[in-house]
Amino acid sequence: WAAGVEKNDAGEVTIDGLAVSALKEQFGTPLFVMSESDFRSRARAFKDAFDEAFADICGGVDVYYAGKSFLCTAVATWVAEEGLRLDTCSGGELAVAARAGIQGANLGLHGNNKSDAEINRALDMSLGRIVVDSLDELERVAKIASSRGETAKVMLRLTPGVHAHTHEFIATAHEDQKFGLSMAGDSTDEAGLSAAEEAVAAATAYDSIELLGLHCHIGSQIFEPDGFALAAEKLLGFLAAMQAKYSITLPELDLGGGYGIAYTPVDTPRPAAEIAQAMADVVRSTCAQLGITAPRISIEPGRAIVGSSTFTLYEVGTLKTVRVDVPESETGEKNVTYPRRYVSVDGGMSDNARPVLYDADYSAILASRDSTAVPQLSRVVGKHCESGDIVVRDVYLPADVAAGDLLAVPGTGAYCWALSSNYNYLARPGVVAVRDGAARLIVRGETEEDLLNRDMGVANV
Ligand code: LLP
Repeated sequence: WAAGVEKNDAGEVTIDGLAVSALKEQFGTPLFVMSESDFRSRARAFKDAFDEAFADICGGVDVYYAGKSFLCTAVATWVAEEGLRLDTCSGGELAVAARAGIQGANLGLHGNNKSDAEINRALDMSLGRIVVDSLDELERVAKIASSRGETAKVMLRLTPGVHAHTHEFIATAHEDQKFGLSMAGDSTDEAGLSAAEEAVAAATAYDSIELLGLHCHIGSQIFEPDGFALAAEKLLGFLAAMQAKYSITLPELDLGGGYGIAYTPVDTPRPAAEIAQAMADVVRSTCAQLGITAPRISIEPGRAIVGSSTFTLYEVGTLKTVRVDVPESETGEKNVTYPRRYVSVDGGMSDNARPVLYDADYSAILASRDSTAVPQLSRVVGKHCESGDIVVRDVYLPADVAAGDLLAVPGTGAYCWALSSNYNYLARPGVVAVRDGAARLIVRGETEEDLLNRDMGVANV
């Protein structure tokens, strides 16, 4: 739960003293409810923890908030005010950054398939770094920068081959996936160079490229710092080898994001300070061992800053209970039958695709009132025309939960609004930010009119 979330005397969930019923009254449901102070304090915590751990190594760390997790003008502004930079991965995200007035020097651009228009936009905005993902793209960036008579500041994204223990779809450092330049020496290059080394050699040779350094991102929702440390060690080894072989200096190293958060009580994330310390220890000792000056380190956390700042508020509609038979083969005990109640809410996979995409677990509580009814095993489901449209797979909710009650699902700040859709012609919910006991809309919810406006109507039938 975000800071400032409590239950009042009537048993109603409040945030900064604002009752959820009042939020529903004013903004409707479903609704993303975000604590601005929670977001800001987590942003600051990352910056402070990494600055402190790396102070004697490279004078501090540049923290780029990964906008893909959730971005709007308000959030971009808070990021800048807290002393962080912003990582973007599309022209659209750059447009939000520009609207928030973020300086190009404080922006990075990612993506495995940047369009020429996006590369041009990055150069128009004098971006601090374009993170290049492939040899093909390196050539394109070099050509575009050259045709403009400019130099592009570039980092190379490498795949260090570290296996991150997370869902396959969000693990990104193994070789056989779409991101990054392979560090393995088995590339198709005639001289037997790895794709990563080919890119270093090519980037160094282009007049229109300023090679800032190397980048990696090993995956997302990772708890153990070992993977980050191992990736840092591998990249530093490669950086040292490249500096020596090509007589260059690579002044920067970005170790990506991926720090996990708690969605349910079984998740055990580490505090930022602990991760920072573990990573700093490895960077310090590896640089000493290699005899190199440490590059300036940067990181790109998204989820760990925004994930816990937000809960989604839903209204309960239809309820039904089914008998679930668990066969002996699954339990080793005699066949068991138990009731499971389906609690339908007014959103679902269109505002939180994570359960259906990644099997992600969430929790939920009855938010609008107290209840002393016995807890009953429940499955919170959405209103979409798919049986996989599950919000919370298994949760105990009071037996008297009824239509009109409000449920709150915590931990929905990252990759929920960002991944939202209009499936079944549902309008995307709005996002409100709460600060000092007042709520304001930072992203307006869509209306039916918004949806119909894109349909060309009878004119083009
Ligand atoms: N840097 C790069 C290059 C990334 O690709 C990502 C996330 C991040 C930083 C931020 O990672 P974070 O700190 O937020 O874990 N939709 C998935 C997550 C996809 C992550 C994509 N890249 C989910 O909902 O779990």
